[in-house]
Amino acid sequence: SAAEKGGYDWFMLKEIEEQPQAIADTLLGRLTETGEIALDEVRLSDQDLRDVDKIFIVACGTAYHSGMVAKYAIEHWTRIPCEVELASEFRYRDPVLDRSTLIVVISQSGETMDTLMALRHAKEQKARVLAICNTNGSTIPRESDAVLYTHGGPEIAVASTKAFLTQLVACYLIGLHLAQVRGIKFADEVGAVVAQLQEMPGKLRELLGRIEPVRELARELKSEPTVLFIGRHVGYPVALEGALKLKELAYMHAEGFAAGELKHGPIALIDQGTPVICVVPSPVGRGMLHDKIVSNIQEVRARGARTIVIAEEGDEAVVRYADHLIYVPRTPTLLAPLVTTVPLQVFAAEIAAARGHDVDQPRNLAKSVTVE
Ligand code: G6P
Repeated sequence: SAAEKGGYDWFMLKEIEEQPQAIADTLLGRLTETGEIALDEVRLSDQDLRDVDKIFIVACGTAYHSGMVAKYAIEHWTRIPCEVELASEFRYRDPVLDRSTLIVVISQSGETMDTLMALRHAKEQKARVLAICNTNGSTIPRESDAVLYTHGGPEIAVASTKAFLTQLVACYLIGLHLAQVRGIKFADEVGAVVAQLQEMPGKLRELLGRIEPVRELARELKSEPTVLFIGRHVGYPVALEGALKLKELAYMHAEGFAAGELKHGPIALIDQGTPVICVVPSPVGRGMLHDKIVSNIQEVRARGARTIVIAEEGDEAVVRYADHLIYVPRTPTLLAPLVTTVPLQVFAAEIAAARGHDVDQPRNLAKSVTVE
């Protein structure tokens, strides 16, 4: 009913708006007085975590994209090699696992069969399993050695939004926790990142307050045959997530690419007027990365693309290459997916609605897939 949806037309829109609170709730109480990250149920000792020499993140769908982002943060902060794998592929390729392997499984529902089977396979090989989950007491956290719950609250819309952002937060916390236990990061450094995370709800509220132009753009593009998404570094999984949302909800052809790969094939897809959504990192800090994607934007534009650029407020360098410019609040590069994903969620929901689709219950999809 309309009341359940809190006055919104769709649960998805309500859940998009709930994201600032969901992030705040997921952060609440995570930093102890001594500056350590508190997990929920830890049946792993600090020594177990110090012994970890390899990490696999395993998940499906949107949760997999959060894992892709996590890899950048976890490797950067902990210096532990980290791979990300689709749960449906993981056990069938006979991965190399042992006692010193940490498996991080990410699942909103905690019931996804592919993820559960990957977890069981990992446990049979004696690997340690840490779950990130939004559903208390569900099967995946029950069978894991440790759990960090995302406190996103129930997510009703099939397309995941607030669960995704809170999964990112949980991944950042795990990265910081591991770095701290292993003596790489210290309380003040951890505290500094947590403080940046704590600024995210405010930044998201600000962004959501001026999201209307994204809706207008969505309505304008609703009849396009295809939409492409490009990004680099953590912007690459964001591009994949933006494309997935559009496929799920609008039933449109959409694809995400690592911007540097364009020249190795996908650039052939660009035709006069092809919409390309470009996820641009902050020019501050990792300037090289920023410059590289600006030249990718020029490349697609030179071939006729209509560029929709998502960039950090105050980024002047992109203005002349952007047919449409969407500014997001300033954010350190590793944390940027928390803001850059949001316009893509709104974009997909609005196109779906404009095309007359059920935004909450897309055809052929289920919220939780309990078959392999
Ligand atoms: C289904 C849903 C997706 C979700 C995926 C993983 O396919 O439609 O939105 O990302 O499952 O779900 P999980 O509950 O494990 O995060």
